[in-house]
This record gives sequence, C-alpha cells and structure tokens, in this order.
Amino acid sequence: MPSTVVLGASWGDEGKAKIVDTLAEKMDVIVRFQGGCNAGHTVVHEDKKFVVHIIPVGILHPQKICIIGNGVVINPYQLIAEIEDLQKQKISFENRLFISSQAHITLPIHTYLDEMNEKKRSKNAIGTTKSGIGPTYAEKSSRSGIRISDLLDSKYLSARIDNIINSKKELLSDWIDKNDVKKMKMDLINIGKKIEKSIVDTPILINRFLDENKDILFEGAQGTLLDIDFGSYPFVTSSNASIGGAITGSGINPKKINKIIGVMKAYFTRVGNGPFPTELKGKIGNFIREKGQEFGATTGRPRKCGWFDLAATKYSSMINGFDEIALTKLDIYSGLKEIKICTHYEIDGEKIDYFPNRIQQLEKAVPKFISLPSWNEEISDIRKYSNLPKNAKIFIETLEKIINLPITIISVGPEKNQTIFRNKN
Ligand code: IMP
Repeated sequence: MPSTVVLGASWGDEGKAKIVDTLAEKMDVIVRFQGGCNAGHTVVHEDKKFVVHIIPVGILHPQKICIIGNGVVINPYQLIAEIEDLQKQKISFENRLFISSQAHITLPIHTYLDEMNEKKRSKNAIGTTKSGIGPTYAEKSSRSGIRISDLLDSKYLSARIDNIINSKKELLSDWIDKNDVKKMKMDLINIGKKIEKSIVDTPILINRFLDENKDILFEGAQGTLLDIDFGSYPFVTSSNASIGGAITGSGINPKKINKIIGVMKAYFTRVGNGPFPTELKGKIGNFIREKGQEFGATTGRPRKCGWFDLAATKYSSMINGFDEIALTKLDIYSGLKEIKICTHYEIDGEKIDYFPNRIQQLEKAVPKFISLPSWNEEISDIRKYSNLPKNAKIFIETLEKIINLPITIISVGPEKNQTIFRNKN
C-alpha cells in the first residue's frame, strides 16, 4: 500500500506509536502531520524504551526517511534536544530527517501564554499539556506566526518576533521582564543553522516519493475526539487530529491515500479536562490504570480510564473513513470479571448513538452498556488469533460487528512482537 494513514480514534494515547513502529518496517517514509510536543509517542524498540514528542517514530528504523510536515508546530528547542538525545543513542539523522519549511514554530512566548491562559481559565481549564500548542496555532491563524524557514533569515525573524511581542505587550509584560529577547533570537538563528540541511519543501518531497511508488506512513498524533472541529470542543487540542489533518498537514494529494487505519484501545482513556461518559472512577478504573500504565508520556499525569465507547468510535470511524482497526492493550483485560461496552447514550431521556457535538449534551450523556464476560488467562504471549481465549474473541468480534470494520491488528503487549495480525483484506 503506497500510502497509509494511522489515526487515533478516541482521546489520544491509543497506542499509535507501537502500531506505527510495527508498520514502519514495511514503509520507506514516515510523516508526522499535526500537533507538536503535546504528543508523547512511547515505543519499546529493540528492548529499549523511547519517547519521542516531535520526531516521527520511524526514526528508530535506520533506513527510513522521516518527515515533519507543514501542519506540525515545532518547538525548536525541543526539536534540537530530541535530535541530540537520539544521536547519543546512535541514531543517525543524515539525509533522513526532513522538516517542512512551512511548519510553524512554538516560541517560549507561546509556552508561557499557554500556561497563563490555563491559569486564567481557572476551574474551566482545558488541562492542556502546556506545550504552547494553542497559542502557536492561534498565531498561525492570525498570520503573525513564524515558520521554520524564517529561522534562516535573521532580519526577517527578528522583525517577526518583534511584531509578536509588540502585539501582546500587556500579556507578555512579566515574560519580557524575565527574558532576554536578543538571546532568544540568537538561539533560534543557531538552531536554524543546525537544521538548515533538513529544511525542505515537504509537500513536493512527499508527492515525489508517492510518484516513485515509495510506501509512506502518515503518523497521527492525539485522537479524533480531541480534534479542533470534531472533538469535545472546547476540551480539545488545536489541530485536526482526524483525516483532514493528514491532508492539510502534509500536502498529500488526497486521491493518493490508500488505507486509513484507526487505532483504538480496548478501553478508553482521557487526560486533561472535559466530559468522559464511560469513565470508571473506582476499583476497575484503578486496575486498568495500573496494569495499563496509563500515565501521560508528556506530562506524567494519570489518565482517566473507562469502558470502550462504541458511540464515540462509530462517530470517529464515520469522520475518518477507517478501512480497518488496530486494537491495542487487549492484554489489560485479563483478570477482570466482566467487560462493558457502551453502545449508546441517553441524553434527557433520548437514545443517542453518536458522539454529540455540543459539550452541554456530552456532559449529560448517560452511557448505556452491554456486558461481556472477560477471561483470566494472560494473553501477552499469544501470537495467533485462534489461540486467544474464547471470550477475548467474542469481545473483538462484537466490536467488529457494531463498528462494521475488520480488526486486523491486535496488540497484546508493548513489544513489537506482541502483536497478532489478522489478514482480513
Ligand atoms: P494541548 O494539545 O496541549 O493544547 O492540550 C489540549 C487537550 O488535548 C488536553 O486535554 C490534553 O491533555 C490533550 N492532549 C494533547 N496532546 C495529547 C496526547 O498526545 N495524548 C492525549 N491527550 C493529549
């Protein structure tokens, strides 16, 4: 398949990184297309644990080309830190990391504003990762943003930074008092020099690779329910974490997308604030969190855990046009008595079998469940679908039937080989 897109079907943290890492072996190029350092992609690669925030997971595969697309917002300091950290681990970047000249950058100002905005929101805080994501995308939309290519032009860069600071003087007064703007400009120019060779016109590069029949994997960050348009607004991120983001964030000719894989966890999690209809607050939620190690890779925050939400998943599948599903963390359910699946909500007494777009409705959504028996056996060593416990197969086949999509990849542990492939297509 020349081009495959991997997207999160829920509120992020679905285990996309492991799926991307697994699929990357057969790919030539891996592209990130939205989000920024808010993402924390954890993979266990050759027995070592790696967490990358901005560089595509494919970088761990020595022969693969990695591209940071125009839709990503890049914190230049973190980019350099990540490159240097991976270099220490003997990962080479020569001729295989390309960064879009059109990608916007997150300045320390944006990180500061993210924190200040959250403070001001007080009890209505979004629970952002405080990585400056919202303020950077706002700057981009206001046409006052700074793009990666601007790091190569000191005069232009300086004028753009002055423009941002002048337009936000009051908001930034504290920050201006404590920070040396001249030094920040110098640091950014030095970073520009370090990455100059990697800065290219990525839409041209990506479409050229497609013409050359290279296999390209588009690696999504966050998830559809955090999408700025389709998610649980305002408790969302600031980019399109659904299929549209893959197109606008990379410049791929949409007709050339061959396959869209939705990644879903066997249960749901959410980090940050906002409604979560199937949340489990007691013992079972704690069991899932501890066994599934559900703690944020970027912030360390404990993730809220809950039952699988089919109403939300069907909506996500509709928006993204998933062709197939990768189901992760099935092994976490071993040892529970029963598994519940939310099939629909009741809102003001009405049956709703989709994800409501008004936050007021989502807040009132009462989840309605079906219950399935779980299994006791640990399944992390199973590699063949037929060897899974009967109840695990019933769970999978129930999801498939209701979502009306094949579950072709099943992850039963963090290691790459802890994966069951079912070739339905
Ligand atoms: P922001 O993207 O940092 O602005 O955060 C907005 C919302 O998205 C918050 O609820 C975050 O917790 C959530 N979020 C952002 N990135 C991720 C992610 O990679 N995984 C899960 N949640 C995320």
